[in-house]
Amino acid sequence: MAAASHDPTTTAAWSALGAHRDAQTPDLRGWFAADPGRAERLTLDVADLHVDLSKNLVTDETLDLLRQLAEQTGVQDRLRAMFAGEHINVTEDRAVLHTALRRPAGLDPLTVDSQDVDADVQAELAKVYAFAEKVRSGEWTGVTGQRIETVVNIGIGGSDLGPVMAYEALQAYVQDGLTCRFVSNIDPTDLAETTKDLDPATTLFIVASKTFGTLETLTNARLARQWLWDGLAVEDADEARRSAVAKHFVAVSTALEKVADFGIDTENAFGFWDWVGGRYSVDSAIGTSLAVAIGPERFAEFLAGFHAVDEHARTTPLERNVPLLMGLLNVWYVNFLGAQTHAVLPYSQYLHRFPAYLQQLTMESNGKSVRWDGEAVTTDTGEVFWGEPGTNGQHAFYQLIHQGTRLIPADFLAFATPQHPLSDGGTDVHALFMANFFAQTKALAFGKTAEEVRAEGTAEDVVQARVFSGNRPTTSIMAPSLTPSVLGQLIALYEHITFTQGAVWGIDSFDQWGVELGKQLALQIAPALTGDAAALESQDSSTKALIDWYLQHRS
Ligand code: F6P
Repeated sequence: MAAASHDPTTTAAWSALGAHRDAQTPDLRGWFAADPGRAERLTLDVADLHVDLSKNLVTDETLDLLRQLAEQTGVQDRLRAMFAGEHINVTEDRAVLHTALRRPAGLDPLTVDSQDVDADVQAELAKVYAFAEKVRSGEWTGVTGQRIETVVNIGIGGSDLGPVMAYEALQAYVQDGLTCRFVSNIDPTDLAETTKDLDPATTLFIVASKTFGTLETLTNARLARQWLWDGLAVEDADEARRSAVAKHFVAVSTALEKVADFGIDTENAFGFWDWVGGRYSVDSAIGTSLAVAIGPERFAEFLAGFHAVDEHARTTPLERNVPLLMGLLNVWYVNFLGAQTHAVLPYSQYLHRFPAYLQQLTMESNGKSVRWDGEAVTTDTGEVFWGEPGTNGQHAFYQLIHQGTRLIPADFLAFATPQHPLSDGGTDVHALFMANFFAQTKALAFGKTAEEVRAEGTAEDVVQARVFSGNRPTTSIMAPSLTPSVLGQLIALYEHITFTQGAVWGIDSFDQWGVELGKQLALQIAPALTGDAAALESQDSSTKALIDWYLQHRS
């Protein structure tokens, strides 16, 4: 049984945390000065990740109370229920088993709802790997016999963000001569721009959609199919068209009958299961484009990275359990210190899509206002996640993090060894980059007092403008280098952070009903844009006026 639903605000720990917040003023300078062991005590390792929590606005007492909150809200019971395949996604009555996607072969069998999960996962993975090898070796050719040079993944949301983020992050591991591109938006610009310089004879499309019913993906897939037929001058005959699709389209889906309806041979389709949420699916066959790009061996390392953090989350006591502690810190900031957003700032250009990926993971998971028993929540839930790579952000929005009026907890990510060890006239550029990384969290934590500003000879009338209050919380996450395994570790870390927050709040982090209304209305509105007067008239006055304006101005 999954943990019973609860209102976290009625727990003793919640009240104690409120009183604790009221009784103390954050003082990172003072706390560090008084406690030389703080950094060491609050720095924890998980697999290859080295995580310094010491610059957060917490004392040992805060952490103790947060751990009590986790106990009183059954976080670890729910985690156990998730790993065991219980139907903790109650609104869809599904198990939540993305952790099974990265279980290595040979463990005690995991059987869920009569499915031998491990056997199915390993079988599908073997299919993906065999396909990836064929494309990489050139054995898989297009219909004209040429080898594939470009793989275009067509998908959206979890069927896009994970693959594109990971492909960008692991550029250093991509096979020479192979490129992946990604089409997601139904804005026709996306497909047109992505394909405009491609040769259809050397292009392979992966249509990735869990449901195979997503408007954007199916529309783009049809556009891509037409682009292929036109580009290859395939004659308008069923057989010719079918063989072109067979060599240039594969699919990834849980709905293989719909794949067949589209005209893709299910021999060339890779499956997964309803217990994999879209935003948790990059480690399923949804990652096929990545497997092609980096190869099965590297993809297996990627999965092993996830599994290492899963094992840490599953087996490590709360005191040293990094994702659970980070999730609890987020609850502290959201519910007790009023944070509305959370920045993720990778000091790695390769991770430039990581914040966007995390936006779906965290905000589609925890952007909820009812609990899993259907009752309204009584406190805030998911915060807004956002970010950009450093150092670019330093010259853009960091001003607000340093001196604005809002509390913005931030995670800083960095890697000790660069993929490109360039030097500028003898100066190690990565070291300069890292100096920025260290400087930012130091400045945010400790700030600069008016006395320190004055001591620099600053004119009195501008002293206050140059003061930095400090006490701006950060977590530093470092790893030796950005390998496939480390990327898997980072993703799993944030998955379990997200899980922890949802479990404390008593919400179902695994459904996403909030995206449905817009989809329904778009389908209702579409006829109004193509001459259906009744559909136009039925709109509210604002929407109707906007549509009228659009109809008058389009050319
Ligand atoms: O609309 C939201 C959503 O369902 C996401 O959760 C999902 O990742 C995305 O759409 C794509 O769905 P599918 O993989 O079924 O095309």
